[in-house]
Amino acid sequence: MNKIGISAKGRKMIEALRISQNPETLAAEGMSPDLQQALLEVGFLEKHEATRPPQDLFDTFSGWRSQKGMLIDPVRIGSFDQAIRAQVGPADRVIDVGTGSGILAMCAARAGAEKVYALEITQMADWAERLAATNGQSAVQVVRGDAALFDAGAPVDLIMGEFAGLWLLEEWRHYAAFVQVRDRWLKPGGRVIPRASGLFLSAVDSRRLSYERGWGFFDAPVQGFDFSDVLISGAYRPARYILTAEPKDLVCTHEIARFDFLNGTERDYLFTTEARFDYPVAGMFHGFVGHFTLDLAPGLTITTGTDGRETCWHQSYFPMPAMAVPAGGAVMARLRSFLTPDTQVLKFGITVAGPGQDLDHEAEHVFSLE
Ligand SMILES: C[S@@+](CC[C@H](N)C(=O)[O-])C[C@H]1O[C@@H](n2cnc3c(N)ncnc32)[C@H](O)[C@@H]1O
Repeated sequence: MNKIGISAKGRKMIEALRISQNPETLAAEGMSPDLQQALLEVGFLEKHEATRPPQDLFDTFSGWRSQKGMLIDPVRIGSFDQAIRAQVGPADRVIDVGTGSGILAMCAARAGAEKVYALEITQMADWAERLAATNGQSAVQVVRGDAALFDAGAPVDLIMGEFAGLWLLEEWRHYAAFVQVRDRWLKPGGRVIPRASGLFLSAVDSRRLSYERGWGFFDAPVQGFDFSDVLISGAYRPARYILTAEPKDLVCTHEIARFDFLNGTERDYLFTTEARFDYPVAGMFHGFVGHFTLDLAPGLTITTGTDGRETCWHQSYFPMPAMAVPAGGAVMARLRSFLTPDTQVLKFGITVAGPGQDLDHEAEHVFSLE
């Protein structure tokens, strides 16, 4: 019997379906209204009230593997708990946007909150409910579903959420839900956790990183053979890589964006900026390492950078073609975060110009953040 498998066109359609789409967008991808209807009838597609996060994000957060990966980080969880103790008072009503295992909601209840609404979109909600019960945290009320649709009935004193992606921006949809909850339900003068964040990039000088994760491998001969065509053709484009960077490899660091979670929105995550990375001594440029800070409470800021304790976010390496920079020289960078117009996937574009080069004439390297 002949076998049937997915085609390249089918893969494209499935990729478009990572995020809930308008019927017109799906039709443009080749899924006609009749086909959509047939797939809805057999249960392959379903209707969503609002745009959902990508299904794979859903799958990730609905299991213990990823929740444990977050719970195991004492910097993250210990600092959030500390911020909650500092900010939550008796009789406070609190919302936890994206509660996962329910850990932050339980911390808020333990800190004295009268009521904590723990909102969770995945089946983890069942666990959050069960764990709050076994831990006797009766102030926690778990609410299943998209936080953006939550009705608190009356304004609350504090809204929190741990919506930091690996380089902060990835979880912009979760932050968008936080913004909707905040704008609808936070009392005037109410508090948020986290309060703000800084996004950082450091220029990197590391032949090892470039060879293992960047452009260096195909730049060098392989068993004596020239493989540089692989790079020139564009067939191999190194992706963003999560790693633990060595402080000695970082030449110069800049805060490239700052976000205010009390007043800002997810649209702030879409920005274009330029920065100059100075080389006091001659060296190589092999791309950037990214990290971020979270300002959780007055006087309590954590960093995911190499200058702090290791966290579950580690650091992000953005490989770029190698460039020699003389002493006193600099790498100019144009940095741009944007959503693809069709599938609304977050990307980060980096254009660099070394000494004697012009940013306007250099190619942009685009990295997927989702
Ligand atoms: C980074 S985890 C944090 C979990 C937990 N708060 C913690 O600190 O361990 C984010 C959680 O938010 C949930 N989430 C993301 N978007 C959501 C939305 N729109 N509504 C409700 N939950 C959401 C995810 O399913 C995930 O469990």
